[in-house]
Amino acid sequence: MKNGIIILDFGSQYNQLIGRRIREFGVYAEILPFYTPLDEILSHNPKGIILSGGPSSVNAPDANLVEKELYEKGIPVLGICYGMQVTAKLLGGVVSEGIKGEYGKSEFKISKQNKLLEGVPENSTVWMSHFDEVSQLPEGFELIGTSTNSIACMANDDRKIYAVQFHPEVSHTEYGSEIIKHFVFDICNCEKNWELTDFIQAEIKRIKEKVGNKKVILGLSGGVDSSVAAVLIHKAIGNQLTCIFVDTGLLRKNEGDKVMQVYGEHFHMNIKRVNAEERFFFKLKGVDDPERKRKIIGNEFIQVFDEEAHKIENVDFLAQGTIYPDVIESQSVKGPSAVIKSHHNVGGLPDEMKLELLEPLRELFKDEVRKVGVELGIPEELVYRHPFPGPGLGIRVLGAVDEEKVKILQEADDIFIEELYKNDLYDKVSQAFVVLLPVKSVGVMGDERTYEYTAVVRSANTIDFMTATWSKLSYEFLELISNRIINEVKGINRVAYDISSKPPATIEWE
Ligand code: XMP
Repeated sequence: MKNGIIILDFGSQYNQLIGRRIREFGVYAEILPFYTPLDEILSHNPKGIILSGGPSSVNAPDANLVEKELYEKGIPVLGICYGMQVTAKLLGGVVSEGIKGEYGKSEFKISKQNKLLEGVPENSTVWMSHFDEVSQLPEGFELIGTSTNSIACMANDDRKIYAVQFHPEVSHTEYGSEIIKHFVFDICNCEKNWELTDFIQAEIKRIKEKVGNKKVILGLSGGVDSSVAAVLIHKAIGNQLTCIFVDTGLLRKNEGDKVMQVYGEHFHMNIKRVNAEERFFFKLKGVDDPERKRKIIGNEFIQVFDEEAHKIENVDFLAQGTIYPDVIESQSVKGPSAVIKSHHNVGGLPDEMKLELLEPLRELFKDEVRKVGVELGIPEELVYRHPFPGPGLGIRVLGAVDEEKVKILQEADDIFIEELYKNDLYDKVSQAFVVLLPVKSVGVMGDERTYEYTAVVRSANTIDFMTATWSKLSYEFLELISNRIINEVKGINRVAYDISSKPPATIEWE
């Protein structure tokens, strides 16, 4: 790494934000676990080190700390929240239990101007989340800012060590971005040289060198990560890459054809489509327990992929769309994509094939992966799609799954999604879909009574998929959806809208 910042991760939920802010400035940033040995940290040649926030107490008997020598290498350090307390403790200050802690917005007041705070007004709002606090500064440090209840900012300009008790990376801290910017550019003297186009060029070169004239296989799901990885690798090595696309029969309407159209015909990629619907329906027959369904789908997927992979001779590499949040070790920074992948990953692949992994997106955040996708020419509609669970419609047909129910659901879901796009609502909600209940109810159509399934329309708004609210779609729009589904989809005569938040409900129904 040249010209970058290392973030040492003590477990704060905001860590990825620090990385993203810095990369948005055009500077490379990488997150490492706090216990990374100092030698290894230094081997990255960082221009600066940030110690993140974290949930524990530096006064606990086996507190998470860093090697004290970290502060003696002449590399600028910025401690954030817990990172400030680590810094104070290791350099001889005192950290004590606060009287009542500070959570949420707090008033920040500058006590002494400093490079780090240039342009920040004397009073501003910051975001706090701490109980312990620094009660005595280490020698050589000056107090440069306070908050309602605590020492909020300290600096040692000679040693280029800085610390803030608040979270500059969250948007509620009014001048947070400026503070990080000052650290990165004015204190660490980083240059702007992290650009996604550079990344693409560098990565293509790296893939070419690594793969040489060998063969690569990749499981293409149609999702963003595997698709972007596939197109990038294809740009580098062309038809040395074979993508295996398993059509489980549990995908959205016409998904399989669309994948073949975009990646096969448009990008001219070498894709083996495996129509494995029958196998999946056979294995799922009569199974209604959601976790068993997930297991069956996951195992069958691996088996089909494995069989296909074995048909290709002399393969040396297995490519995967692993992205940065999947890689970061701290539990707290594992976002929804990690949850998703742990359900679905092609992870358990053929050990005996001894394939070397090729993961070109390992360093990228999700929004960066999307940008790379757009840059590579993947249609925006695909790049900005809502997440879709690995087991697909297998967990959206509640109870036992069969082909007929999946077909009914596909039609209903397709109408809902089409109308969201048409009404300019798709990008305003985070995840939208239809669920098919294994419940029939009475209806009347024309002169006849019907006895058909009930569909539930679900749309959630969320930032992190850990908590979510139901989308406040208008009555008129819901009426349109309900009319279209009931009139056009044979097998459904009743539509309900899910108005549950997560928690206590979840986004999916199974
Ligand atoms: P829940 O239902 O837990 O969903 O609120 C949170 C996010 O995770 C997705 N999800 C899954 N993704 N396999 C996946 O790949 C699964 O089994 C699975 N279950 C939930 C869900 O779609 C949402 O984005």
